[in-house]
Amino acid sequence: MTDLSTPYRSHTCGQLRAEDAGQPARLAGWIHRRRDHGQLIFLDLRDRHGITQVVVDSSQAPEAHATASRLRTEFVVTVAGEVSRRLPGTENPKLLTGAIELRAREVEILAEAKTPPFYINEPDAPVDEALRLRYRYLDLRREPMKERLLLRSRLVAAIRDAHHRAGFVEIETPILIKSTPEGARDFIVPSRLQPGTVYALPQSPQQLKQLLMVAGMDRYFQIARCFRDEDLRGDRQPEFTQLDLEMSFVREETVMDFVEWMIVEVSRAVVPERPLQQLPFPRFTFEEALERFGSDKPDLRFGMELVDLAPALRGPDGSPASGFRVFDDTLAAAGRVKGIVVPGMGGASRSQLDELTELARRHGAKGLAHLSPLADGSVHGPIVKFLGEERARAVVALAGAVAGDLLLIVADRHETTADVLGRLRVELGGRLGLADPDVLAYCWVHRFPMYQWDEENRRWDATHNPFSAPLPEDVGLLTTTSGDPYRPDPGDPAGRARAQQYDVALNGWELGGGSVRIHRRDLLERSFALQGHSLEAMHEKFGGILEAFDYGAPPHGGIALGIDRWAALFAYQTNIREVMAFPKTQSGADLMLDAPSPPDPAQLAELGLRFVGVGKPAAD
Ligand code: AMO
Ligand code: AMP
Repeated sequence: MTDLSTPYRSHTCGQLRAEDAGQPARLAGWIHRRRDHGQLIFLDLRDRHGITQVVVDSSQAPEAHATASRLRTEFVVTVAGEVSRRLPGTENPKLLTGAIELRAREVEILAEAKTPPFYINEPDAPVDEALRLRYRYLDLRREPMKERLLLRSRLVAAIRDAHHRAGFVEIETPILIKSTPEGARDFIVPSRLQPGTVYALPQSPQQLKQLLMVAGMDRYFQIARCFRDEDLRGDRQPEFTQLDLEMSFVREETVMDFVEWMIVEVSRAVVPERPLQQLPFPRFTFEEALERFGSDKPDLRFGMELVDLAPALRGPDGSPASGFRVFDDTLAAAGRVKGIVVPGMGGASRSQLDELTELARRHGAKGLAHLSPLADGSVHGPIVKFLGEERARAVVALAGAVAGDLLLIVADRHETTADVLGRLRVELGGRLGLADPDVLAYCWVHRFPMYQWDEENRRWDATHNPFSAPLPEDVGLLTTTSGDPYRPDPGDPAGRARAQQYDVALNGWELGGGSVRIHRRDLLERSFALQGHSLEAMHEKFGGILEAFDYGAPPHGGIALGIDRWAALFAYQTNIREVMAFPKTQSGADLMLDAPSPPDPAQLAELGLRFVGVGKPAAD
């Protein structure tokens, strides 16, 4: 074990064991708890490594006892004495050091402490989050936060180890750069030396890592800080960390195979006790993921897959003939009627069903129909009167619902049906506890559409990364019907092109995303043109990379994984704040440092800046 001794301590508070009994020792740390029994004072002394019980006996060490009676929780002390086995029956199996105690000879106060604003020694006590963030350094003293930061540190160490073993070089890219669009707003930093200009903070190192491939670095990775000015959620912070990597001379499967190997290595190293649901990871095309799970980040820990009900709703000639107008109209308009079977919810009450309908509406559905098969073979539900008993039974049978189940049905456009049912699936899977919290269910979703039509700007927007390459067989589709890439139309072949784009999902979260890139300048310019960038705009935004491609770019591709998300999922958390040392609030504030804050007028003057019309701050 590493020697952590210093002039203030011979051992850490997590180190001493029964075999050390009889030895002298010196410990340093915080007073976790203090129990005064008159002649004997018991101190639980805590540092990052653990807790050791210290006993101060007035008959043996009167001076130390006098000091110990002044101690309060969170005082910082150093204590010297002798390690002693605890009396049989007084051992504490919950502590690593529970077999021994330190019999104090000398107690010295290194720093006094005010009463903390919340209990540090009660890990389960609920504490207001704003208070935790305001006093984050105290929150980090608490066991759960400390453990999560240690877990995160192990995660990053395992990531570095796996990449070094696989021939990657770790390279830092700058933070003061030019805009790298990833779909969010940039944070900008005004330049003093070049008045009237700004740097942008990286939304990701995307262009720089591609330039490293042009530079011949072959395999690069970085634990990269990224900045995105976007609305925050549980899985999003304005400042976050990516495991960013890029590889040369690769195809889609080369990157996916490496990343999958790396993820398995890292998971086994960091959380060996957690089972991996399936190896190799399931790979779904985007279409299949949407069809089966209604999501491009499916939670595979439970079933409840979406079922297409159309076959039971059509007549012998294939035309819609269910008798329920909503379904028939939807099918006639090339929409979808699909359902999910919720196990054991057949007896749902009126108000439960209303609540689910409300949820579906909030996600964009026009309504939510339901059917419940009963034990006697009949089917119950308000739409049975339209469908008729026989067709209702056929629908239920097609969905695989049995007595006691609830079949929820949505009829709408393809994307809406998928999205609404996908969200209901996740919500109900959670409520019913269908997902094993310990299992790590990784999967790939790939072959996303290259573009989606942007009606407002009448152009093709990249669905993911603007640099992504099409599948080799789809290169010919990067065209418009008009023949002019600057006159796009929603009917263009480009709308059918699929990208060599892959996302990795874990337990229903998007963990990472990447792609094989376009490495030829002409094709990249064509793709940018479809995305509505004029030649000038292209050069203004991506001039550096376009020029570099003139000097020989290898075929390359990569990915970025959200380290905060990965750590949160490893730590059973639903908010990435819980695995970040100093996160921001919902409104982007650092409550401890009180940032953001108004600048010093001198700073503004130096930069030639002036605030005009300052708006209201966002509420938390
Ligand atoms: P993308 O934008 O998909 O891809 O980001 C990759 C991963 O980064 C994490 N992430 C975030 N985590 C916390 N807070 C945020 N605001 C946030 N935004 C993203 C997610 C996400 O999956 N340059 C490309 C990668 C590539 O193509 O190689 C990129 O940044 O886990
Ligand atoms: P209505 O006849 O309009 O009252 O609808 C009967 C049932 O169908 C209600 O439970 C509605 O919520 C449901 N419903 C309405 N529109 C849709 C739809 N687009 N998809 C699924 N169910 C719907």
